[in-house]
Amino acid sequence: MDNATVVASGTKIAQEIGTSRSEVWRLVQQLRTLGVEIEGHSATGYRLKTVPDLLLPDMLSPLLKGTLFSQEIHHYYKIGSTNTEAMEAASAGAPEGSVFVAEEQTAGRGRGAHQWDSAPSTGIYCSVVLRPALPPAEALILSLAAGLAVHAAVQQVDSRILPDLKWPNDLLIDGKKFCGILTEMNAEATRVRYLVVGIGINVNQARFPADLQPIATSLRLASGTQWSRVELCAALLKSLDREYRDLLQKPGAHESILKRFQERSSSARGRQVQVEENGGFKGVTEGLDPRGFLQVRTADGLRTVLSGTVRLK
Ligand code: BTN
Repeated sequence: MDNATVVASGTKIAQEIGTSRSEVWRLVQQLRTLGVEIEGHSATGYRLKTVPDLLLPDMLSPLLKGTLFSQEIHHYYKIGSTNTEAMEAASAGAPEGSVFVAEEQTAGRGRGAHQWDSAPSTGIYCSVVLRPALPPAEALILSLAAGLAVHAAVQQVDSRILPDLKWPNDLLIDGKKFCGILTEMNAEATRVRYLVVGIGINVNQARFPADLQPIATSLRLASGTQWSRVELCAALLKSLDREYRDLLQKPGAHESILKRFQERSSSARGRQVQVEENGGFKGVTEGLDPRGFLQVRTADGLRTVLSGTVRLK
């Protein structure tokens, strides 16, 4: 990776990977169709024009040294859902900190029965396996912490962009969603066995399918510039590492997550909402309770939103 853009002869590459020059040429053609910019041909040697912005373990791992997430990074060009893959791997014993990233998902999943639009190499589709010694009731806090980690990562890469957190797990810019988080777990009544935090970020999408256009945005659309997915993904995993360690080790971390979430959310307090839960109800948001659930003041008193969709009015 240190010398990624030097010229390499077809003969040398063929020798290194134990194949023929014509096979190298075929592979180079294949990479070009995937969007990798390679100059030259077998007679002159090949040269990568730029290092492609792919979420490869070789790119991410050095940036994640010292974190929980540097050791086991699994990368897929195309997969159904990184969350499904991570849940299956966790059930088969994958260690804490395992990361599953994909360039494209064919069955990306959102909360409830929603899908997550996962176009090739434009977004970040990433799931991590955690094995916290926590009761399942604490999982919501971890999910809120993941939202804070995305918030911090975006601000770190481009401080002009100020995301707005929407309970429990959405991040918005100008009222449009650019990130969703799906936290799934396998637990006993008192103990989490494993937990998968799946994060989908719209990064470099220039447009969305017609049905999503009114509600979705990307960091590129919001900033007017192309983003490095590798830089953002590394910043996100570093930030998630810090939040997670603090939550497990630092006294007061739980309260800090609740406080920071509410500070970075324009809708956690004083906002008219419609809640799709228990037949539906409407009211005005009144902050998070100590476990992280959203409270809503209704005509019948204060109600706690446990799982329903919250629509901003
Ligand atoms: C939502 O907003 O409803 C949550 C969306 C979560 C999408 C991410 S993309 C990576 C991971 N794999 C999935 O199938 N879903 C999550």
